[in-house]
Amino acid sequence: MCPADTETLDGGEPTWWKEAVVYEIYPQSFNDSDGDGTGDIPGIIEKADYLDELGIDVIWMTPPYDSPHADNGYDIRDYRSILDVFGDMDDFERLLEELHDRDIRLILDMVLNHTSDEHAWFQKSRREEDGYEDYYHWVEGDPDQPPNNWTSGFGGSAWTYDDTREAWYLHLFHEKQPDLNWRNPAVRREMHDVVEFWLQKGIDGFRFDVFNVMSKPEGYPDGDPDGGWVGMEHFADGPRIHEYISGLCDDVLAGYDVLTVGEGMDITPRSAKRYCGPSGDGLNMVYHYDHTMLDYGDGGWWDIVDWEVSEIRDALTKWVRQLEVTDAWNTVYLGTHDTPRIVSRFGNDDRYHYESATMLGTLLLTFPATPFCFQGDEIGMTNYPWSSREEMRDADATNRVELALEDGRAETFSDVADVVRYRSRDNARTPIQWSDDEAGGFTDGDPWIPVNPASDAINVANQRGRPDSVLSYYQRLIELRHNEDALVYGVYDLLTDDHPRVWAFERSFESERLLVALNWAGRTSRVDLSEAGEVASVLACNYDDPGTDLGALTLRPYEACVFRVV
Ligand code: GLC
Repeated sequence: MCPADTETLDGGEPTWWKEAVVYEIYPQSFNDSDGDGTGDIPGIIEKADYLDELGIDVIWMTPPYDSPHADNGYDIRDYRSILDVFGDMDDFERLLEELHDRDIRLILDMVLNHTSDEHAWFQKSRREEDGYEDYYHWVEGDPDQPPNNWTSGFGGSAWTYDDTREAWYLHLFHEKQPDLNWRNPAVRREMHDVVEFWLQKGIDGFRFDVFNVMSKPEGYPDGDPDGGWVGMEHFADGPRIHEYISGLCDDVLAGYDVLTVGEGMDITPRSAKRYCGPSGDGLNMVYHYDHTMLDYGDGGWWDIVDWEVSEIRDALTKWVRQLEVTDAWNTVYLGTHDTPRIVSRFGNDDRYHYESATMLGTLLLTFPATPFCFQGDEIGMTNYPWSSREEMRDADATNRVELALEDGRAETFSDVADVVRYRSRDNARTPIQWSDDEAGGFTDGDPWIPVNPASDAINVANQRGRPDSVLSYYQRLIELRHNEDALVYGVYDLLTDDHPRVWAFERSFESERLLVALNWAGRTSRVDLSEAGEVASVLACNYDDPGTDLGALTLRPYEACVFRVV
């Protein structure tokens, strides 16, 4: 695509990971090949042609490693083996080969901050075996009084008292996910070796889970009790984090041509440039939560508040503008395995299902950043109508609901049902709807998590090959992104700073200028975009016969257009 000697938007060289469309696979919910109800690696291989047809370039697979799955794989018991239910190392190697044969790269989720409490290191550490005493954050003290007021990302205290060692250990997430002590050089060496092990297998990079919380301050000072996630100001971008990340980049990653993306907690463009970009530690890019926290009120997870289109537009635009100045590369996603379904959250999953799902796809695939598309969003999968505690699987939502039931904030599931239906991460984790068969064609067995009843209407089989489907639209937009340098490297200009519903922006690269117009509402909007010039051609639109008079552009509900302009 881009000639190799061209300077790109971030002032750096064009590279494959700037041009790539990344697709996130959550293996347990993708495709089950053996009827045990859980997706697996051979199941992904069965769908390799589907991925190829979709046109994506890179797969990010969430953790496939051996794990008790207290947090669905983010609690790793053995970093060097594959969880039985997913297959084995031969299956993994076969997957890598099948993907590479189709020119699709594979990056793995890597959890550096914590392990499972069933990991051999933790078992040895809790017994204070020689050399392992300081692998985790241990603090001695009164068994009734945690060392500080930090909370876990899943609610409740971040500390659990261990009766074996008679000390508290820190877990920023589930109690079965103890935080590793990165101050210990032996821990750093272990984790470097793990990263190297997977690079040697020939994978194409990593998504580093919660990477910027790995450094904790000495003495574990109390956090601001009103600060949301209590303690965050101490452990996000902690005191030695740059030493740890640059150490990993210099000692291990620098020798490989790989994509690295860090999941940043409470990260800002200003702190991001210290991790990536020309003067950063060596990561390629990070991603943030600014636009996905807009519907959280002061009461956090329990508090759902309305958001405005202008807030999303401003949150994402701020990152583009500030990273342009700092020369660091950007990412964009709307949904992941940690968020509700995008068409239910940001669109209209009922009357304007097709229109809003494709409008969101247009934003994702035309924005100045490497796009990350979550599995199932390419067919417009929707939130699930959760109706009991028994249906829920997610450690985060179940922990919060159980705490609320215990402390009397709720008496029955129906008291919390609305929030669970809106917020639960399980919404993203219901199986891919391949067809309208039993269990959505995902498994011949009993699925590990309920299949969305919407599978009757929303599924791959009835969208494949149909030109007016969400799936075909995604395919066209992915192809467009591959064909238009401006969509990857083009400068971003926001054209509608203050329109309440329309988000229009221009992407320009050399002599090419593209205009993207999104009407983010279930009603018609009018806008004057004449400053962009005139429409030369329509490159994509989710409606037939789009208007082309930029001086008085009328956009129908959730209409999304990409024009070439002169
Ligand atoms: C990341 C993962 C999430 C997990 C958490 C703890 O945010 O995306 O799924 O629960 O880290 O590892």
